[in-house]
Amino acid sequence: MKILAIETSCDETAIALVKASGGIKAPRFKVLKNLIASQIEIHRPFGGVVPNLAKREHIKNLPLLLKQLLASSRSKIKDQRSKLGSRNTKYSLLPTHYSLPPIDMIAVTVGPGLEPALWAGIEFAKKLGEELDVPVLGANHLEGHLYSFLLAQKAVNSKSQASKPKRLKFGSWSLKFPSIALIVSGGHTTLLLLKDLKTRKKLGETRDDAVGEAFDKVARILGLPYPGGPEIEKLAKRGRADAIEFPRPMLNQKNYDFSFSGLKTAVLYYTRDHELLPTNYSLLTNVAASFQKAAIDVLVAKTMRAVSEYNAKSMILCGGVAANKALRAALKRESEKLNARFLAPDPQFNTDNAAMIAVAGYINYLRGKKYKLIAKGDMNI
Ligand code: KG4
Ligand code: ZN
Repeated sequence: MKILAIETSCDETAIALVKASGGIKAPRFKVLKNLIASQIEIHRPFGGVVPNLAKREHIKNLPLLLKQLLASSRSKIKDQRSKLGSRNTKYSLLPTHYSLPPIDMIAVTVGPGLEPALWAGIEFAKKLGEELDVPVLGANHLEGHLYSFLLAQKAVNSKSQASKPKRLKFGSWSLKFPSIALIVSGGHTTLLLLKDLKTRKKLGETRDDAVGEAFDKVARILGLPYPGGPEIEKLAKRGRADAIEFPRPMLNQKNYDFSFSGLKTAVLYYTRDHELLPTNYSLLTNVAASFQKAAIDVLVAKTMRAVSEYNAKSMILCGGVAANKALRAALKRESEKLNARFLAPDPQFNTDNAAMIAVAGYINYLRGKKYKLIAKGDMNI
């Protein structure tokens, strides 16, 4: 089936067209279009995302992205509006000279995220669903991140392999369960145990700041622009990770929870006690490198303890912070030491996008799970 997906939970307006097939043991995805309009430049002067500004931009960007998707779509064209007679023609979201390749379902993020921003996507999806006469399914943004690694798959299960339980074929390799998944984003830091694609258990999560939030706050302390993660990573490459001994919160506690607020405060105090001028470049790079190392050490230690305890056969890293190369490298190295295959989405699908929302929508369609089309800012996984 073809799924048109919409994502507006934060500061990226995104629309994607994804072809999905296969059952829950072997779902397959082909991304036909993946369009993103970033609002980063708009929010940057405020040092973070302003919810109502985000909503305004989503409302402006969604019809533009849809138009772009239609204009660039070279698939077999069939105008679904023709089925609908004159209904909604006056306020049609589809420009008259465009037509949409047949789609079977619309998936839209309903949470977690900024509620005004989420509503912009939900209202748009509902109207488009009515116009095209196709079902609209709510999707959980965190499930989108979690399943985004499925977009990296290269090939398809053969029939005989599909009948084998708990195994997915990805090109020349298979995904074996159980799997440990680490979701690291601007709003969440969550460790999950996956028995298969539909059965999971939350092992732990952050008790205060998410790790992405810590990167953003530390970047602000260092006078770097929003979003801070990529900026810190850039500086860290030039600094010494062992230069400053920042704390590793909760590292030795026998649970799977995290805490990053103390680490951020430690950076704040350190910079107050030392003259951190933009001209003192080596101090700046050392703070970035040492902070990044402290955060990675905690994430890796807890994740590996879970991999070991549950005898996991694979380890999934996802969410915006999964774009961090040092974190990816450390988790890959340590997972492979424990004979667990390291899985992460293609770099383009780490940060917010709509292709992952199509995947989450399809998995929930297969699971028979339905989310209400109501924005839920504090939705969890
Ligand atoms: O998943 P995402 O795009 O949005 C949320 O759902 O929150 O994650 C955004 C977060 C931001 O905090 C950003 O600073 C962080 O991901 N991030 C990074 C990197 N790229 C993005 N953090 C560390 N290193 C990176 N390269
Ligand atoms: Zn996200």
